[in-house]
Amino acid sequence: MSVGIDDISFYTSNFYLDLKSLADVQNIDAEKYYQGIGQEKMGIVGADEDVVTMAAAAALPLLERCDRADIDTLMFATETGVDQSKAAGVFVHGLLDLPNRCRVVELKQACYSATAAIQMACAIVARDPKRKVLVLASDIARYDLASSGEATQGCGAVAVLIGSNPKLVEIAPESGRYTEDVMDFWRPNYRSTALVDGKYSTKIYLTALKQAYSDYLEQGGAEFEQLDYLCYHLPFSRMAEKAQTQLSRFTHSERSKAALDAMVMPTLNYNRIIGNSYTASIYIGLASLLDNPELELSGQRVGFFSYGSGCVSEFFSGTVVPGYRDYLHTDKHQAMLQARTELSYTEYLKFYNFECPADGGDHLMPEQTTGPFRLEAINQHKRVYSAR
Ligand code: CAA
Repeated sequence: MSVGIDDISFYTSNFYLDLKSLADVQNIDAEKYYQGIGQEKMGIVGADEDVVTMAAAAALPLLERCDRADIDTLMFATETGVDQSKAAGVFVHGLLDLPNRCRVVELKQACYSATAAIQMACAIVARDPKRKVLVLASDIARYDLASSGEATQGCGAVAVLIGSNPKLVEIAPESGRYTEDVMDFWRPNYRSTALVDGKYSTKIYLTALKQAYSDYLEQGGAEFEQLDYLCYHLPFSRMAEKAQTQLSRFTHSERSKAALDAMVMPTLNYNRIIGNSYTASIYIGLASLLDNPELELSGQRVGFFSYGSGCVSEFFSGTVVPGYRDYLHTDKHQAMLQARTELSYTEYLKFYNFECPADGGDHLMPEQTTGPFRLEAINQHKRVYSAR
């Protein structure tokens, strides 16, 4: 019996800012963003959208195909939680009408927690192959205006169904890990935007990559030359290129630059136009790879490097299952992305500066999102969600 990804779908807000608009206001060359960090657009949430509505929307296509009663556990990975006590996944549980028997928990460790959830989900399924675990990863990346991180904002959610004898990707049991207590990126409870030591964060990301990969080899993992594709955590697309260069040098790979690029480029298409979605980003990268109509991936081995600042990281691999193409949501993904609305810089500022009311009164939220779920109101400190 194998265990792994049975279904995958992602969602992002229906608004975006083109990074050229930001570059124009900053009076700099847009190529710094398009080429230098490899990003074109960043997703921006409306006032009535949050990690709950995005995650529920990401999960909807999966639930149309599976029996809700089979979902044993829902794990919600995020660093943009909406409550210090209640798991965001419990709101999703209600919106999606999941069985009362389904346990729900929220996980946090910066951009790494979705990988922890997936590994734990595999363990649950290995123990009882009839079970399915729904892993939701959903985040909104926000930095201060005019900070170096501003161009690397974004938002997105991914839903991953873990089951036995999966239809998409079998996950191998070997995994390499690296944890170190560092302050490269963090967000104290009293702040709505992250703090980051940008250059240091990219340096520690690359150090963690070498360390986690070394541990992966020690645990019996595949040699670099045996990997066909690589999904990296994607704070911005150029980071994957830097990571690939680092790993190929570290492993003394003999592959050409073109061959090394070909292992990574197909994973970047969605993230380039969504921006950073923190813990969701690596699996939106997987969706980008699987959705590519020009690649036949059956039997191909994919390496995954998951990195969460602070930091915890993990390297593991999976093999794409023959016939995977029949179970993708490519058309839905494309239609959702094409239907997005571009914001002007002034509109972006309005969205950015919106603050959720915190006075305990009854507040209806402005109707902005066109997604299937919305945050309708905040009444007496209670969030009220609705489906369209
Ligand atoms: N044309 C083409 N390229 C250009 C250019 C132009 N006109 N102008 C500049 N560039 C290039 C630069 O040469 C540079 O390339 P290299 O990286 O190859 O040197 C690149 O564009 C970026 O330029 P800068 O280094 O000057 O950019 P910056 O000072 O604005 O900072 C950053 C970049 C540090 C990544 C910043 O965006 C940031 O702080 N981002 C948030 C932190 C982050 O994402 N860290 C990633 C690791 S941590 C992590 O992964 C967790 C997470 O999700 C946050």
